Amino acid sequence: MEISYKNLNSRRVAVFISGRGSNLKAMLNNEKNRILNGEISFIYSNEKNALGLNYAKKFNKDFESFPYKKKNEGHLLRILKAKNIDIIALAGFMKILSSHFIAKFKGLIVNIHPALLPSFPGLNAQKQAYDYGTKISGVTVHFVDNDLDGGIIIKQRAINIENCGNADAVTKKILRLEHKIYTEALNILLTKKWHIEGRHFIYE
Ligand code: GAR
Repeated sequence: MEISYKNLNSRRVAVFISGRGSNLKAMLNNEKNRILNGEISFIYSNEKNALGLNYAKKFNKDFESFPYKKKNEGHLLRILKAKNIDIIALAGFMKILSSHFIAKFKGLIVNIHPALLPSFPGLNAQKQAYDYGTKISGVTVHFVDNDLDGGIIIKQRAINIENCGNADAVTKKILRLEHKIYTEALNILLTKKWHIEGRHFIYE
């Protein structure tokens, strides 16, 4: 499936979560402090008890929670359209979006992954990297297409994990980085002129 990569018309962002929502929290704080150059206009959780929904409430944001199922996709797409959402940021969203949803959503979908893709895709990437014994890991922000964690890379940052000692410490170190990088990547998408050549994301 071809994704029509395009520069955005608005700066209205939807964030999809499933759980804790610390990346959402960082984005909301960054929006409030004018570090994020966009407007978080809608939050969706596929889990009604997701802790991250407390941030949606605290920051007075529109949100909805219902299971991510085929029969609900149309409803979700209609909400996104009604709210003029141009970009979806997956932030710990633990469901795989269907190819139907990706094709129907006419904007862009991006994801943050806690490792340096293409190494360690899938779940528990931080532990995968630690267990493998890599000295360096990091964070990847990438477009979402139909390949799991395989979309074009927008931004990556590496960190040394040599002295972390255990997977939890790696996870914590990477999470601190995630909270900065996701906003930086979104700002590029929202404010810069950019285009895609092959697998290369290029911005001015
Ligand atoms: C983050 O570490 C994010 O990178 C990861 O889930 C965590 C969510 O934390 N996502 C994935 O592993 C996706 N494959 P948060 O809910 O506190 O933002």
